[in-house]
Amino acid sequence: MSVDVVILAAGQGSRMKSNLPKVLHKVGGKPMVQHVIDTATQMADVDTHVVIGHGADLLRQSLEGQTLNFALQAEQKGTGHAVAQAMPNVAEDSVVLILYGDVPLTQAATMQEMVNIAATGDLALLTVNLKDPTGYGRIVRNSDDQVIAIVEHKDATAEQHLITEVNTGILAVKSQYLADWLPQLSSENAQGEYYLTDIIAMAAQGGVQISAIQPEAEEEVQGVNNRVQLAELERWYQLQRAEWLMVNGATLADPSRIDVRGNVNIGLDLLIDVNVVLEGDVTLGDNVIIEPNCYLKNCTIGAGTHIKANTVIEDAVVAESCDIGPFARLRPGTQLANKAKIGNFVETKKAIVGEGSKINHLSYVGDAILGKDVNVGAGTITCNYDGVNKSTTEIDDNAFIGSNTALVAPVKVGKMATVGAGSTISKDIDPAALAVTRAKQTSIKNWPRPQKKEKGN
Ligand code: UD1
Ligand code: CA
Repeated sequence: MSVDVVILAAGQGSRMKSNLPKVLHKVGGKPMVQHVIDTATQMADVDTHVVIGHGADLLRQSLEGQTLNFALQAEQKGTGHAVAQAMPNVAEDSVVLILYGDVPLTQAATMQEMVNIAATGDLALLTVNLKDPTGYGRIVRNSDDQVIAIVEHKDATAEQHLITEVNTGILAVKSQYLADWLPQLSSENAQGEYYLTDIIAMAAQGGVQISAIQPEAEEEVQGVNNRVQLAELERWYQLQRAEWLMVNGATLADPSRIDVRGNVNIGLDLLIDVNVVLEGDVTLGDNVIIEPNCYLKNCTIGAGTHIKANTVIEDAVVAESCDIGPFARLRPGTQLANKAKIGNFVETKKAIVGEGSKINHLSYVGDAILGKDVNVGAGTITCNYDGVNKSTTEIDDNAFIGSNTALVAPVKVGKMATVGAGSTISKDIDPAALAVTRAKQTSIKNWPRPQKKEKGN
């Protein structure tokens, strides 16, 4: 049976104190509503509907390029009214799973279980027991322990306020039931809204079995109303990611001091020290070591590579057994072959560095192609930009670039060539040649140092 997922995301979220619609605030670097979409679309045969209202244009923009149906709820008249806006696009004979854009971390297994229950004809309701149920809709059961209704906090009696089992808001039921019940909702209640929760009583009266299930963890159904709750969910999410890393072969110095904001693939026996941020798509091979305070974004790091403290790597591909940092910055387009070395205070950009080549100290290498076993001395700069265009520097195998050299691109340094320290190289160098451009040293013997002038005269 096909599944129509309806994600409610029309509310304003005024307690976020934000110009951004609430559901676009991020957990783990990804908008909350995107988490919901991504998890839901892990199920088979899913059509996803997003009910938008506040910040509708921003939401459409941010979710562009995905197969989604948007339903506009121009005025927020309640959760029942919100679901009704999506109904014209919902299949006649499907299971409808209702999710909230501000409840980002519901697990796929929980969603699937709800859908499976609903496919049998029952209404699946996700509930949770809370120590402090204030504000939530309460689950009302009869003497046989059957769910018969949900009463919103503002409509509940003093006795009902004592109920600790609450409605998470997440439910699943066949579309034909919804199509029947939604038009019957009324707004005669404390908030003057069309409550989706009123369909529970309709189901009970209509003889539809209500199956209440509970999530594995409370955080799965936790909504975000303000930035404090956002931070709480972020920490929980990060702990899940850290546990995933450990379970799959990484030793973490401290699971509470790593942040993963994207998709990470890892090999075995990695060591990750504290305050490491992994963002976007990151692949880390076997035995990779990452020292403290490193930021890695969209990169692949080969087996056995050692990334020392305070290194930043972005959009780069690093092969095996490389040595990087401390304090290195690999910018987009950097590609290191096996056993390359990038040392402290070295910046690379669009640099292809061959096997065993070394750029050990204080250099800028951009728009450059280095062969094998090249040695780039301290303070070497590729002058790749003339103010208008970028040009390439090529350094062939086994070349040796002396310290404090400026390589004015476009320029080529041949195989085995040597550049004397302090040179400014603007012409190609033949293989095996020595190029030096520095001024000859002169010495003046017994040079009298300037004397300090006497004051006052
Ligand atoms: C709702 C439930 C309550 C449950 C609680 C769980 C109802 C009537 N009540 O209450 O039983 O315990 O969630 O958090 O359903 N939304 C729209 N359009 C609207 C109204 C809401 O899209 O017209 C969206 C909101 O953006 C939000 C979600 O629906 O994502 C829930 O709305 P909210 O107003 O927070 O519902 P609660 O009053 O908290
Ligand atoms: Ca709410």
